[in-house]
Amino acid sequence: MNQGFDKINEVNGLLYIPGDKSISHRAVMFAALAKGKSTIENCLLSEDVLSTINCFVQLGVKIEIDGTTVTVWGNGFGGLSKPTESLNAGNSGTTARLLSGILSMQSFSSTLIGDASLSKRPMGRIIAPLKMIGADIAASENKTLPLKFSPSNSFCSIEYKMPVASAQVKSSVLLAGLFLDSTIKVIEPVTTRNHTENLLQLKVENGTDGKTISVSRNNYPVAKDYIIPSDISTASFFIVLTLLTSNSELVLKNILINETRNGIINILQNMGGSIRIENVQKTSGESFGDIVVSSSVLHNIHIKKEIIPNIIDEIPILSIAGFFSEGKFTIGNAEELCKKESDRIFSICENFKILGADVEEYPGGFSIEGKQKNINPVFKSFGDHRIAMSFAVLSLLLKSGGTVKDFECVGVSNPEFLKQVSSIIK
Ligand code: S3P
Repeated sequence: MNQGFDKINEVNGLLYIPGDKSISHRAVMFAALAKGKSTIENCLLSEDVLSTINCFVQLGVKIEIDGTTVTVWGNGFGGLSKPTESLNAGNSGTTARLLSGILSMQSFSSTLIGDASLSKRPMGRIIAPLKMIGADIAASENKTLPLKFSPSNSFCSIEYKMPVASAQVKSSVLLAGLFLDSTIKVIEPVTTRNHTENLLQLKVENGTDGKTISVSRNNYPVAKDYIIPSDISTASFFIVLTLLTSNSELVLKNILINETRNGIINILQNMGGSIRIENVQKTSGESFGDIVVSSSVLHNIHIKKEIIPNIIDEIPILSIAGFFSEGKFTIGNAEELCKKESDRIFSICENFKILGADVEEYPGGFSIEGKQKNINPVFKSFGDHRIAMSFAVLSLLLKSGGTVKDFECVGVSNPEFLKQVSSIIK
């Protein structure tokens, strides 16, 4: 579906957005593993999280959805049952990689598949550490989906130093560790999102090598009630839209404020953005607060290497903010961007070329400056939800407006995007 956008004049109001995607996936998984009834309030029910829910239903877990509350009746340790068909992770890397850690440790065989995009994404990064633990995983030669898990009877504990900064890899290994009596340690040289550690209350030690996270069967989840803070990655589209629209102020309620995810806020503040965080509270080990954002004049800044994993999902929308800011927008050390739902360096650069901006693309990064030359831009989503929403925001800011092709992919993380936009614009 082609979605057209006209320029907006003002952004105002109050916005409630759905629960955080990373935390929603994990809450569903931990509730499904636990014994007894758990509830998950403000759960994101986008296509990605529904893929996780459907996989656990196929694994014999009873799950009910009522509005944005999900109730899960887990069967406890050893309580998953052999699925009759392949488990389908759809477009969701988090589902595929975290679930792989769980499936590796089961006493039944299973097969994990995904859509065309997910089937191209690298799985060698989880296969390697899971095989070190003793998992029996078969994959294609290029280490992509489908993955076939067979029961193994010789597991061992490992100390795994992560070669790639990835919370999905870290979490995959940690979830496998929940099924072992002995302790598994994951050493993380560069900090990545820590929701698995927070929700399971894992021991985290800081050392010269980075963080060491320990896990064993002692950390196996118990049934509980979760309240999911709203998604900061989804919020960032509205934050940028408000910052770059004159006479605007927006309040985003109950947004996740986690130090491994709030790099986008710090960067936009350092670019000159007026962003305040109020009413900070805590739930299920995660902080959340209200974000108050108003129109600002932005300038580009140097983005440090260490912050890249923290903002990895926000780089597409940050590039839109950068295009409208004083100076040249430059990002580097972001090789992981090429391994997302699309090759995001390519997708972003292609769309800025469509606009007529000056684009320089290089390994692990790109830079953008210049002005709009095409007065009728038709952007491509590349089937990637974050690219679609980023170029929707760009279109809303252009005098000419713009169109985003194949816009339906926003359903992966935020099916209500268009409704949310119309509720705050003039
Ligand atoms: C996620 C981790 C990140 C992120 C993804 C969600 C998670 O991926 O890009 O959208 O929930 O753990 P990597 O850890 O592979 O960088």
